[in-house]
Amino acid sequence: MARDLVVIGLGYVGLPLAQEATRAGLTVTGLDVSNAVVDGLNAGRSHVDDLSDADMAHMLEQGFTATTDAAVIADASTVVICVPTPLTPEGGPDLGAVLGATRAIASHLRPGHLVVLESTTYPGTTDDEVRPVLEAGGLVAGRDFHLAFSPERIDPGNPTYGMKNTPKVVGGHTEACTDAAQTFYGRFVDTVVRARGTREAEMAKLLENTYRHINIALVNEMARFCHELDIDLWDVIAAAKSKPFGFQAFYPGPGVGGHCIPIDPNYLSYQVQAKLGYPFRFVELAQEINAGMPSYVVRRIQDALNDEGKALRGSRILLLGVTYKPDIADQRESPAKPIAIELRDKGAHVEFHDPHVTTWRLGAESLTCVDNLDVALESADLVVLLQNHSAYDVDRILASAPRLFDTRGTTSGPKVVRL
Ligand SMILES: NC(=O)c1ccc[n+]([C@@H]2O[C@H](COP(=O)([O-])OP(=O)(O)OC[C@H]3O[C@@H](n4cnc5c(N)ncnc54)[C@H](O)[C@@H]3O)[C@@H](O)[C@H]2O)c1
Repeated sequence: MARDLVVIGLGYVGLPLAQEATRAGLTVTGLDVSNAVVDGLNAGRSHVDDLSDADMAHMLEQGFTATTDAAVIADASTVVICVPTPLTPEGGPDLGAVLGATRAIASHLRPGHLVVLESTTYPGTTDDEVRPVLEAGGLVAGRDFHLAFSPERIDPGNPTYGMKNTPKVVGGHTEACTDAAQTFYGRFVDTVVRARGTREAEMAKLLENTYRHINIALVNEMARFCHELDIDLWDVIAAAKSKPFGFQAFYPGPGVGGHCIPIDPNYLSYQVQAKLGYPFRFVELAQEINAGMPSYVVRRIQDALNDEGKALRGSRILLLGVTYKPDIADQRESPAKPIAIELRDKGAHVEFHDPHVTTWRLGAESLTCVDNLDVALESADLVVLLQNHSAYDVDRILASAPRLFDTRGTTSGPKVVRL
């Protein structure tokens, strides 16, 4: 085979995978349907947070190339699918990109290929959806080619855990498929964990993200009544997490965001409902609580202004940090958006600042980041800390802001209202 790996889908997941494999000495080609993505990468421009342009240039020097031509699949030993799995308007999983990528593989499939699906999806996708498309040409999974699922656990912006030192779960269609996937990932990931099969590997990913979603909902619900009871929940969590076993700290905030946590549990609840006919109640409750947080934050902003004798209508609100997590530029599903939209609908004058975002799309409109943070802080009626990026100097913010609504529990004092 002329190349070790073709990565299909060169986004937040596919590109770091291509980088790690390239770094380990594998010959890697990236395949994407977007000409803009392919041209940008081949010109050394990265479009994801975890890779700089210098990283991209280094990958190109090491032999990585990107293409839109699926023919590269034919002479690769391994093909990994990292394309998006969004939700349909009805809330079910949209497998369009996964099936598109699978059809591209099917038309170039050769005996001996290892095909791995990494896109997050509902249990059974690899076996019930991907396998029949691959086998349509006559080659059989487990006999002629290897097929496996391996969930992506990437945590964008995490300085400690990257692709190499985060254990990789693999589950094959057969034991031999798991062996092949384990050998492949073992070339550039420190620890490979074998799951019993593709369904277990698919479900492991959904368990991880559902666990996170539910625990965030737990503290978000507690944040509401702790406020009423005048109990500082952040102090409660700091005390509880001193227990060295049986407790993991989760923190409240203005809602959940990103491509995974608000979306992935839906794959599971969709499948439980569609196949078994009953709801996955934990997920539904967590969705309800987390989805209600932006409106709750708006109400608390209104209350904070009211305490000062001000109405929300006509007030200047400065939002700090509009991405879904700290220290990255990704705004997907960020709760900042519904908060800003509701504030504007109620007549507030909304401005924003974010060290990672220059232009912020709000429905049909775009807002531009304030150019002078100090001036914006001083002229706001209320400053709202939505995302505690490490670039923020909280003391400086507190010194200039007339009043701060802190949704992250990072500040305290007479000027501060905590979530
Ligand atoms: N972003 C994360 O932090 C994260 C973490 C874990 C798992 N995941 C999962 O990984 C998968 C990919 O997510 P992402 O964040 O990398 O998406 P992304 O949108 O950043 O990138 C996906 C890329 O795939 C390309 N693409 C779409 N359809 C294609 C096709 N048919 N053939 C070839 N290329 C195609 C797009 O042009 C895009 O460049 C999703 O299933 C997601 O749920 C994402």
